[in-house]
Amino acid sequence: MVNSLFYKRLYEWYEIHHRVLPWRETENAYYIWLSEIILQQTRVAQGIEYYVRFISRWPKIEELAAADESDVLREWQGLGYYSRARNLHKAAKQIIESQKSKVESGQQDTFCFPNTFEDIRSLPGIGDYTAGAIASFAYNQPYAAMDGNVYRVIARLMDIDEVFDTSAGKKLFHSRLEELLDRENARLFNSAIMEFGALQCTPNLGDNCINCPLQNYCAAYAHGTADLLPVRKPRPKVRERWFDYHVYIKDVYTLIRRREDKDIWYHLYEFPCQEYEKAPSDNPQCALSLTHVLSHQRIHARFIIHKVSQLPEIKDAFCVSWQELDDFALSRLTLRALSLISH
Ligand code: ADE
Repeated sequence: MVNSLFYKRLYEWYEIHHRVLPWRETENAYYIWLSEIILQQTRVAQGIEYYVRFISRWPKIEELAAADESDVLREWQGLGYYSRARNLHKAAKQIIESQKSKVESGQQDTFCFPNTFEDIRSLPGIGDYTAGAIASFAYNQPYAAMDGNVYRVIARLMDIDEVFDTSAGKKLFHSRLEELLDRENARLFNSAIMEFGALQCTPNLGDNCINCPLQNYCAAYAHGTADLLPVRKPRPKVRERWFDYHVYIKDVYTLIRRREDKDIWYHLYEFPCQEYEKAPSDNPQCALSLTHVLSHQRIHARFIIHKVSQLPEIKDAFCVSWQELDDFALSRLTLRALSLISH
């Protein structure tokens, strides 16, 4: 089905409809990498704000590498899934470490982001998608970049009703995308097909197929199956958890603690927390109840306010003023609670 008219149609559509986004205006691989990691966590509109803040604060990769992890987490705050931020920092440090002797001895002018797919793929936090995106967007190398939007476009163009989110499914979809990839113009092709999935070949199609420029190439359109695709495997069961947070208030002070267990929100700060095996039956007074949904967990949290004349001794917890809270990387749930608790 691939012919030059297909690409022409796709690229004409892209030329007219694409959004102007800051990471599309650069070939700086470090910036493109930052944008891709941020966009794994959030939508484009919010992603722009984070992207601009990151590149303003750390315009060069060596500056990010030299930052404190806590500052990187603080800048990431609000995006959730902090392991991505930790990997970002770890990868920057790894890159600088591996080039240090060359830069210091003058063999290499500046630190630079790796420029082969294999070197990019080997960095912490980078999978096939991100490595393909960076190699193609920054260097125009012929690698595919299969994000969630592209899965949908491929499933429909080729009318594939196999599940896509299994390792066999990923392999199948990847090989079909490889066949379709415009190897001479991978940067343009990947940008266009991703944007096409984001704006035209959307999950809820509405009337989008009627004026679709790729209609003649779409097997699902021909068979009337576009609305049913792509097919995903049944979702795993969500783990339910019950947390009580104790918010001690003495004047302008409270207690917080850093999470140390290998668990959600590793190294983030929050109010002292007590977890229950099952839903607690008592109903404390002065509690704010919030349900917080993560990808595989649903947290039932209660924030119990204790106005005290002296802050208690709690293991690993320490005293901060409400104003200072802003300097700590807090979990999104804690931020939600803070916006609702008046003190
Ligand atoms: N989502 C992931 N990467 C993207 C990009 N480069 N542009 C727009 N949306 C994206």
